[in-house]
Amino acid sequence: MKDLYYILMYNNLGNVKECKTLIKHGLIQVNGVVETNCKRKIQEEDVLIYQGKMLKSQPFHYLMLNKPQGYLCANKDEKEKCVVDLIDYPDCFCLGRLDRDTTGLLILTNDKSLKKLLLPQNHVEKTYLVETKERLNKEDQEAFKRGIIIDKSIQCLPAKLEIIDDYHGYVTIEEGKYHQIKKMFLSLKNEVVSLKRISFDEILLDENLSEGMSRPLNKEERNKLIKKAAQY
Ligand code: URA
Repeated sequence: MKDLYYILMYNNLGNVKECKTLIKHGLIQVNGVVETNCKRKIQEEDVLIYQGKMLKSQPFHYLMLNKPQGYLCANKDEKEKCVVDLIDYPDCFCLGRLDRDTTGLLILTNDKSLKKLLLPQNHVEKTYLVETKERLNKEDQEAFKRGIIIDKSIQCLPAKLEIIDDYHGYVTIEEGKYHQIKKMFLSLKNEVVSLKRISFDEILLDENLSEGMSRPLNKEERNKLIKKAAQY
């Protein structure tokens, strides 16, 4: 559920101040009644009217994409293919970036309130399936737990490495530094061969989604992210 003024902004009725003014001036009806509370919580079923026209009470898109290799996490690039070319909503942005050769779960949305989930201090966990060039071992696990130093001096937060077999594991990190997992393994004298994100917070990559395909997040998935972002 979002505040009324926020919904108006996404209906292109202006910035925060302009939308709050429309509400305070009694120009917005919710379910047939004038609403002057800018923070009125709006549900998808609510009917919003402005100047006789119905507004979108759910103007947001929340998509899960199974990102294929070879796509940039960007909206536009002169030379490269971009993930936004794979979906029908050009106003959506990537919630966090994956490298061009990384595959798997990418959430795209036009709801800017979710950007808070990307801040390292909010500790949103992202899990990746990783294949490495050299064997994984217990010392690597300990190093992840302590927090690895990348680029000679940048200290990463403690992370998790769960070993599946000699060359495969699950890595969970709570931040998103540039090429972070690749650099973590380089610091351990190892190398990432392939990387696939399988979860973002409580959202799991839908196994029925083939690479390059997307689907809207369901209500439960959407609400998990919205509620989490609202906590910060
Ligand atoms: N870490 C990386 O090195 N690359 C990604 O795409 C994501 C995390």
